Amino acid sequence: MNKKILAIYYTQSGQMGEIMNSFTQPLIESGASVEKAVVRPVADYTFPWTGKRFFSVMPSCVLGIPEQLEPLGLKEKSYDLIILGYQPWFLSPSIPSNSLLQKAEFMALLKDTPVITLSAARNMWINAFVRVRNILKDAGAKLVGNIALVDKHPNPVSFVTIFYWMLSGKKERYLNLFPKPGVSEKDIAHAKEFGKTVAKYIGLNAWDGMQDELLKQKAVEIKYRLMFIEVRAKPIFAAWAKFIAKRKNRTPWLAAFKYYLFIALFLGAPVLLILDAVFLKPFSSKRIKSKILNYSHVKI
Ligand SMILES: Cc1cc2nc3c(=O)[nH]c(=O)nc-3n(C[C@H](O)[C@H](O)[C@H](O)COP(=O)(O)O)c2cc1C
Repeated sequence: MNKKILAIYYTQSGQMGEIMNSFTQPLIESGASVEKAVVRPVADYTFPWTGKRFFSVMPSCVLGIPEQLEPLGLKEKSYDLIILGYQPWFLSPSIPSNSLLQKAEFMALLKDTPVITLSAARNMWINAFVRVRNILKDAGAKLVGNIALVDKHPNPVSFVTIFYWMLSGKKERYLNLFPKPGVSEKDIAHAKEFGKTVAKYIGLNAWDGMQDELLKQKAVEIKYRLMFIEVRAKPIFAAWAKFIAKRKNRTPWLAAFKYYLFIALFLGAPVLLILDAVFLKPFSSKRIKSKILNYSHVKI
């Protein structure tokens, strides 16, 4: 197969790199030429994070303020397929991924090119995906597939373990008690099954039906409760980001946001979910179904 594929991504821990390797393996085996490119901010975000630095990126991230990136140094002028690997930060595309999506050099490549988006999140990726999907549409790209990998442990558990991972740099079991954070090794290995499906469709030179096939393989699984929390959190994060971005001294407000986040997750969300289960959800099954369908598919 004489196809040129660009697999471009940002990663801090290396997780997205492992996922890309697994996902693209069948494409390489099918004979396609896969060029892997890593996005590098000029001033990169040191990993592991400190708690203060972690929260300090929230306003720029939510407001979509780009950072300067090193030149991409790509080999080709055009590709038959671009695979874009990104991760959500604060329910938005991470700053390096968002900066890539605002870089003229990359935007020019996107035009009229089939794109597959591949995200690896804790468990809240929908808002970031909607933003990426809109940017790709505006750039004239053809979004043909989406894969959303997550940490499948319960929401409060992964909330604890991701902080251990992000602040220690170790993708290991916290206190030997909690499960490992992030996308599981099994799910990373399974990403090659999605790659096999993509290899089939690129060989056929037609993309219709691919996302449905990926959905059958569970490339995207939407849990109602997480979707409920995330969709409601979006405007609240935007209000915090706008408010904090205007402060001269952001430190106390970022600390306030951190406490808001803990309270919202452990107290606010369970209460809202109970109220929803009683008063809203039983009467909204059509609306919920159509939302899930919208977030599972690539067409807007
Ligand atoms: C600053 C920051 C904010 C994050 N916010 C979210 C989020 O809103 N939703 C989510 O599911 N994961 C979130 N994550 C987890 C990332 O999406 C990602 O899974 C993790 O950082 C590993 O990615 P890596 O390949 O860059 O190491 C966040 C991570 C960081 C560093």
